This record gives sequence, C-alpha cells and structure tokens, in this order.
Amino acid sequence: MNIETKCLHSGYKPANGAPGVMPIVQSTTYRFDSTEHIAALFDMPTEFMYSRFANPTCDAVEKKIADLEGGVGAMLTSSGQAASMISILNICSAGDSFIATSTIYGGTINLFGVTLKKLGIEVIWADAEASEEEIQKLFKENTKAVFGETLANPALCVFDIEKWANIAHKNNVPLIVDNTFATPYLCRPFEFGADIVIHSTSKYMDGHALQCGGVIVDSGNFDWVSSGKFPDFTEPDESYHGVVYTRDFGNMAYIIKARMQLMRDFGCYPAAHSAFLLNLGLETLSVRMKQYCENALKVANHLKNHEKIDSIRYPALEGDEYHERAKKYLPLGTSGVMAINIKGGRQAAMKFMDSVKLACNEVHVADIRTCVLHPASETHRQLTDEQLVAAGVAPALVRLSVGLENVDDIIADLDQALAQI
Ligand SMILES: Cc1ncc(COP(=O)(O)O)c(C=O)c1O
Repeated sequence: MNIETKCLHSGYKPANGAPGVMPIVQSTTYRFDSTEHIAALFDMPTEFMYSRFANPTCDAVEKKIADLEGGVGAMLTSSGQAASMISILNICSAGDSFIATSTIYGGTINLFGVTLKKLGIEVIWADAEASEEEIQKLFKENTKAVFGETLANPALCVFDIEKWANIAHKNNVPLIVDNTFATPYLCRPFEFGADIVIHSTSKYMDGHALQCGGVIVDSGNFDWVSSGKFPDFTEPDESYHGVVYTRDFGNMAYIIKARMQLMRDFGCYPAAHSAFLLNLGLETLSVRMKQYCENALKVANHLKNHEKIDSIRYPALEGDEYHERAKKYLPLGTSGVMAINIKGGRQAAMKFMDSVKLACNEVHVADIRTCVLHPASETHRQLTDEQLVAAGVAPALVRLSVGLENVDDIIADLDQALAQI
C-alpha cells in the first residue's frame, strides 16, 4: 500500500458495518469478569487494562504510525520531549553514556545535557559531520546508543543516517533518529539502518497546532541479544514477574519494554481524545507535506537573492550545502522549514520578526500556518554561545516555517517585513 493510502486506511479496522471513523474510547479502565483474568494480565499484558499506558484509540494510532514508518510497533507519548526521554531511558541507566549530535533541537539538548546528567547518564556530543574515525574515538565502554535528527531543528542540516547507523552497529548499539520535521512521508529512517525513530507529533503529524504529543517507533531490527550490552533486555525484569523482554517479545522487545516499564512508571501517555485528533492530522499528512514542500521551495527561491538576506539553509534548494544528501534521504522535499540569516544581526532579525503580519510570531514550527521564531532569543536561549555555534544557531537566524496559505501571500508578507529593516 502506498503511503498516501496508509495515511487514511491503516490503524483502526472497523467491524463489518461499523462506520470507518476511529472511535474515542474515553475510559480510564476496562471491566473484567474474573480476578484470575486480571491477574493473568499483570503477568502478560495482552489486553487493555489501564489507560495510563495503553488505550484502544491510542493503540489504533500507534499501529498507523508504526505502519507509516515501517516499524513493528509504536508507543504514543504526551509530548515529543517524553518520547526523547523514554527512547534513551529504555536503554541507558545511571553510569551509562550515549552519543548525540550537537545540532539537535534545543529542548533535547537540555534534556540530555542537564536532566539526564542529573540521573547519572552522560551525553557525549558529536559533530554530525565528523569522520568515522573521529566518531569512533567518542565511544566508551559504557556507550549504549546514538541519537540524531533527520532534519536538524533549526539548523536544517540533513543527518547522514546510513553513516551513523553503520558506526552505531559496529559498536553494537542502536541508532535513534528524531524524524519530526521529515515525517515518514519524506523520509523513513529504518530504510537507511536506523533502529528506533521518535517524533514530536505536535508538529506536522498533528498538523494543526492542536495538541502536544510524541511517539516512539521500533524497527524491530536491532539484535539486543547478540549485542551483549543490554542485560535489561535479556535478563528477567523483577518489576514484571520475571519477564525477559527478548525471550518473551522477540523483535518487539524494545517497544514493549518501554511501555511495560517506563510508561507504567512515568505515565506520560496521551488521552484518547488527543490520539483521535492526531489521527485526523495523519489522515491528511501526505497531502499537506507535498504542499509545504512546494510552497517552501518557492519561498526559498524568492529569498535566496533577496538583498536583506545573508544566507538561507533549505536543503531542497539547488546549491544548498546539503542538497545532494537531501536527494538521497528526502527525495520528495525537505518540509516547510528553513533557516534564514537576516543581514544586520540580532536586531535586524528581531525587527523582521516583529514586522510580519500574516506569518505568526509564535513558539511553534511545522504548523499549518506560516510562522517564524528567533531561536537565539527563544527556544535556544538557555544555550551558551559555544552551544549556539555548535547547534548552528547564529544570532541573526530566523526559523521560517512555511505554511499552507497561498504562496504569493506568504512571499508578500515576508517582503514587507524585510522592507521594515
Ligand atoms: C525536532 C524536535 N524534537 C522534539 C521536540 C519536542 O517536542 P514537544 O514540543 O512535542 O515536546 C521538538 C519541539 O520543537 C522538535 O522540534
């Protein structure tokens, strides 16, 4: 089935005669006939038991996203941050380390560098463009995973997934990819060797700026047993009646462990209604992604020679540093998001931000409406100057997220705002 069809048809399968829309199972709990039945579920949770970690509406959306990404299973979370956090905590414990590229989203940099550090987990920052030899030197005995972003927010670099997957696998650890900006419509990281994919579904997947959410998808391809580095997967889990995830769940060990241990304990699971809304966004994902890419390419071509623009990063644009790599990983386009450097530095960027009329000046990206954000003073303000440089965030950088308005109206608005500088 093609991805356009999957967006509409996978996930919920209605019973004969039932309407084809997804039902909202708005319930905390599920009623059973016997104590013995419930007791069995505590040993092996094969049915819905409690909505802190599983719910039929969420389940249908999880199946749809797993299918879109080409994975064996998925788990929704209440935000993209929760997805990033669980993706790592499902692998690393205090005393472990993992490698992450320094161009990832500012909130993830903080989560990894500050909060996980407090939990005793060390992040080792890497330059995404470093050579294999340089990257190899970063691995330690206790390194358990590698993390990168398909399209970096906001630097818009294209992550060389295949290169990083090979290095991760040589070291017997999985590669986790944040595929938020690309969505499975533009790139499916599992096809290039990634093992786990995460998303902030608050962005293009939801599509309408309605609700925060996240998802973790498991490719089912990583061999936790032969790696030899993951006793939490291969030895009995005392908190779950001696379950051995790899023995009992085969190639779904990662995603089932994430739900049975971490979602059970953290409970950062979305409500059924949020999953229902997310599904509405997914139904039009393919149509919207095509249009974002078309509008953004027109905007990028207009801005590239603009007298008030210093430089522009949009990998789909001919001549962009990442254009060739984008053709490999994102052949249909590189989303609606671009990074523009305004001539005149921080003040000029802020003047531009304050002058747009159609575009929304908001803390969001990958929205249905065109929006702008100034990372240096907003999302990335917690980073040091050194970290800003490493994340590819110049003081004059504006992140422009091109929406679905008529592209002539978008361009007219940007032109009038640039004229104010
Ligand atoms: C690439 C990326 N990953 C993760 C996140 C975090 O997602 P959320 O805001 O849904 O927690 C964001 C948020 O902007 C993001 O852009």
